[in-house]
Amino acid sequence: MRVGVLGTGDMAAALGGAWARSGHEVFVGGRNTAAAGALAGRIGAAGHGTPAQAAEYGEAVLLAVPAGAAPTLAREHAGALAGRTVVDCTNPLHPGPGGVMLTTGAGESVAGLIGAAAPAARVVKAFNLVHVSMWDHPAGAFGPVPPAVPFCADDPGAAGHVTELITGMGWTPMPAGGLDRAAYVEATAAFVIGVWWDGGSPALAFPEPPRAA
Ligand SMILES: NC(=O)c1ccc[n+]([C@@H]2O[C@H](COP(=O)([O-])OP(=O)(O)OC[C@H]3O[C@@H](n4cnc5c(N)ncnc54)[C@H](OP(=O)(O)O)[C@@H]3O)[C@@H](O)[C@H]2O)c1
Repeated sequence: MRVGVLGTGDMAAALGGAWARSGHEVFVGGRNTAAAGALAGRIGAAGHGTPAQAAEYGEAVLLAVPAGAAPTLAREHAGALAGRTVVDCTNPLHPGPGGVMLTTGAGESVAGLIGAAAPAARVVKAFNLVHVSMWDHPAGAFGPVPPAVPFCADDPGAAGHVTELITGMGWTPMPAGGLDRAAYVEATAAFVIGVWWDGGSPALAFPEPPRAA
């Protein structure tokens, strides 16, 4: 699959690198094109250039930028993103008095804001729940049952694209409903990161169903 990556930071490097390793053609687009070139060289991408070029290139396009910038970027490139799978990995979080807090309003999600900014894009929420370092592990690193990547999508074609990206990396796709549920996945990131910061292990809160029953 042709994948455009908008951003040249940690998530762009980790996810773009994992997708390049699993055989996808990755194009890195950055507002700093020298940084995009350096990253493209590092991860073995097929090309690099501006965010506009990355948006034009990808059948799927990852927005690997701060949550506050993602809807604006989507609006700027709404024409190019029309009909494409737009993968939103952002977390709208900031440190608050009791841990990390959402910056979005009640029921609102960044994925939904991206969808409103680029109405013809096929938005998917995914890849926001674990630390960026997890994507550097090779396929098979987690044993016989690969961990899951929850995703929210309305469009079946976009769900198919993200499923292909996830399985290629050796993880398990976990459909988590339509885009109207993206706010829950974003809120889950606030919970998970808050527990990690306190030194806890959020996975322990979710036993396997037979034991829970
Ligand atoms: N890091 C994690 O563990 C993790 C995990 C899950 C989700 N996420 C989410 O993934 C997203 C990216 O995180 P990251 O860790 O990769 O951040 P990062 O390393 O700081 O990279 C951010 C990238 O966004 C670009 N950028 C910033 N503002 C922009 C704007 N207005 N227009 C265009 N590009 C802009 C930056 O470009 P410049 O270099 O030119 O500033 C940089 O390439 C965030 O929304 C974050 O919440 C991160």
